[in-house]
Amino acid sequence: MCFPLLIFFFLPHQARTHVSYELKDDVAVIRLNDPTSKVNTLSVQMQAELTEVMGEVWSNGAVKSAVFISTKPGCFIAGADINMIQACKSSEEVTSLSREGQKMFEKIEKSPIPIVAAINGSCLGGGLEVGVSCQYRVATKSRKTILGTPEVMLGLLPGAGGTQRLPKMVGLPGAFDMMLTGRNIRADKAKKMGLVHQLVDPLGPGLKPAEERTIEYLEEVAVGVAKGIANKKVSLTKEKGFMQKLQDTVMGLGPVRKQIYKTVSDKVQKQTKGLYPAPVKIIEVRDCKGAGVEQGGEAGYVAEATNFGKLAMTSESRALIGLYQGQVICKKNHYGTPEKEVKKLAILGAGLMGAGIAQVSVDKGLTTILKDTAVDGISRGEQQVYKGLNDKVKKKALTSFARDTILSNLSAQLDYSSFKSADMVIEAVFEDINIKHKVLKEVEAVIPPHCIFASNTSALPIKDIAAASKRPEKVIGMHYFSPVDKMQLLEIITTDKTSKDTTASAVSVGLKQGKIIIVVGDGPGFYTTRCLAPMLAEAVRVLQEGVGPKRLDALTTSFGFPVGAATLADEVGIDVAAHVAEDLGKAFGSRFGGGNVDVLKTMVEKGFKGRKSGKGCYIYGKGKKDKSVNPDAEEILKKYKLAAHPAISTDSDIQYRLVSRFVNEAVLCLQENILRNPVEGDIGAVFGLGFPPCLGGMSHTHIHTEVTLAFFSRCLFLLSFRLFVDSFGAERLVGIMKRFEDIYGNQFTPCQLLLDHAKNPSKKFHK
Ligand SMILES: *[C@@H]1O[C@H](CO)[C@@H](O)[C@H](O)[C@H]1NC(C)=O
Ligand SMILES: *[C@@H]1O[C@H](CO)[C@@H](O)[C@H](O)[C@H]1NC(C)=O
Ligand SMILES: *[C@@H]1O[C@H](CO)[C@@H](O)[C@H](O)[C@H]1NC(C)=O
Repeated sequence: MCFPLLIFFFLPHQARTHVSYELKDDVAVIRLNDPTSKVNTLSVQMQAELTEVMGEVWSNGAVKSAVFISTKPGCFIAGADINMIQACKSSEEVTSLSREGQKMFEKIEKSPIPIVAAINGSCLGGGLEVGVSCQYRVATKSRKTILGTPEVMLGLLPGAGGTQRLPKMVGLPGAFDMMLTGRNIRADKAKKMGLVHQLVDPLGPGLKPAEERTIEYLEEVAVGVAKGIANKKVSLTKEKGFMQKLQDTVMGLGPVRKQIYKTVSDKVQKQTKGLYPAPVKIIEVRDCKGAGVEQGGEAGYVAEATNFGKLAMTSESRALIGLYQGQVICKKNHYGTPEKEVKKLAILGAGLMGAGIAQVSVDKGLTTILKDTAVDGISRGEQQVYKGLNDKVKKKALTSFARDTILSNLSAQLDYSSFKSADMVIEAVFEDINIKHKVLKEVEAVIPPHCIFASNTSALPIKDIAAASKRPEKVIGMHYFSPVDKMQLLEIITTDKTSKDTTASAVSVGLKQGKIIIVVGDGPGFYTTRCLAPMLAEAVRVLQEGVGPKRLDALTTSFGFPVGAATLADEVGIDVAAHVAEDLGKAFGSRFGGGNVDVLKTMVEKGFKGRKSGKGCYIYGKGKKDKSVNPDAEEILKKYKLAAHPAISTDSDIQYRLVSRFVNEAVLCLQENILRNPVEGDIGAVFGLGFPPCLGGMSHTHIHTEVTLAFFSRCLFLLSFRLFVDSFGAERLVGIMKRFEDIYGNQFTPCQLLLDHAKNPSKKFHK
């Protein structure tokens, strides 16, 4: 139900649980705390109690000012309660929800007494809307303090007045930047932008880290400020920097504003290719041609609420909210508390992968041993860990002292000494079953009985590796993605013999390392590799049919994928793609066919291994955009030329050939219980397959001036197979696949589960 007004009305007179207040002299200190959760969200309950409390405060003549503060450590208000939106059945319902929010915040904005928001920790979405309605904001300089409007990442817009209020506060470009990227803003930046008035230093002069000031101190500061405003000792105007003043002047000019709208619109259009509605609507509710503030107050609020309602009903928004919730699910351990906590981790193989795993482990407080067979291997690995941590120092996310303390927990060695005290061993040695068996036996000879053996492999079935083990219940797969410190996904693979406690331990280690985790069944390619392989096989075939890499890329990106299929192959590595195609081809037979593996192998022989080797489908220059088609790769493709079938070679046919193979395989994994549920399937695809290029791109672009994130959200949608199938329609997808099946056979045979959904349209993957 979506009628918060009714709830406000009928709220029984009982003890309030989420909002309380206390008078300190003539200041009402209003404390927010949702007792049912680790974070505060702007829920129906919170809003109702806040409204009630404000009513009491405003009607109390003795109160001259007020402070909003959260009693939760590290969280002011983390956002609005998404369930409120999800419960709505129509855009009108969502719009009225938004109107209610707007009204409440307008009352706060026009409060007869000044209200100070005291912010420590996350102040996001609906939380930021509360903050910016107040007359004054103080924020702690804590690293956890972040402000932002992440709504765009859920396919929405700030819907409680934010689109109208923010530009007044931080200027139009600043507001667009916040609303279109959804990025988090640290306290010091927020002060510079004019988003907060005053910073509170938790350390203060002469204080040591151990003496960090607490929330009581923040409250004291805020109460002081509130009194100051009430008796006119503190001014409400922010001191504006030179840039801000300049901007204000320039912005006052109509043509400049028009130019800004145009620039931003063009950018959004270019990046979203018109596939992602939220950023477009964000601009629309502000645009001078539309009904934004340009036309004066009320019309802007109405436009905001109406568009908020429309966006909430789009499949993109539903998809992104589903993914967000999936991510929360995959950040929990569903296998219980491990009997013995893993404190000491040993990693075999100091290559890119091994060192990457070591880095994310020591960084999170695990004592870590890095073992390799060669001295230079070890020193390279140690260098990599050092560099990874040092990059954080450069970004001021870590002090050099903390870096060195962390590094003191890392030891490197050539032999198995000290493995006797390891709680878990992760091997990242060469991808060869004989080497894996040799290593497993050596390790089992030295480790204690409780120690877990985890294998990082991308394709070898874990049961084959475990076949050489004396205690297969302690063997598990942990498939990390490269680069380990950037890729958030960890795919954990259990065999029939893996014990629940082993799984619990592996999940717990992964969570400690900061990963989003899916736990899947054992089988060739597990889940992520298995879904990627058929799509790549199709991409190779399309190339063989004479569609050049550039056109193939254009077709895939205009469909909504984050990167084109040819670029994806280069990013994954042509050698890796060849390996996977061969291994999985053996396991699954002709169903995994498509393009000829020899194309890939010949490319590898010529040294065209993809981006890492400078050449693949493309030749890569120094700049990140500097790439041109590799003529030698085109020659190879010509040698393996296939005749295209005109009946299934239109642009849209090519798009659906790629997508349907990926989607069908994902659904098949669900059917075969490789996946336990569709949620994990989506999270695996999005964070394992969608991210590498997106993330690679993000690490060197200035995302804050682009709308990359918003665009990126669309790629999340496409990779979300359950939402794709649900909104596209299983029946329609099956129909298209049958046409392809007539020509290419079993590679396009829809799996049983997909057929079931096609027959019964009320069946949905997304519940
Ligand atoms: C801010 O939150 C952190 C927890 O993230 C807490 O340790 C700290 O005491 C708080 N500081 C202030 C000044 O409120
Ligand atoms: C080093 O490892 C120990 C034991 O696992 C842990 O308690 C400690 O917090 C770690 N130190 C750092 C700086 O992470
Ligand atoms: C670990 O998994 C990654 C990702 O698939 C793979 O690239 C790498 O080869 C594996 N590491 C080893 C050396 O087994």
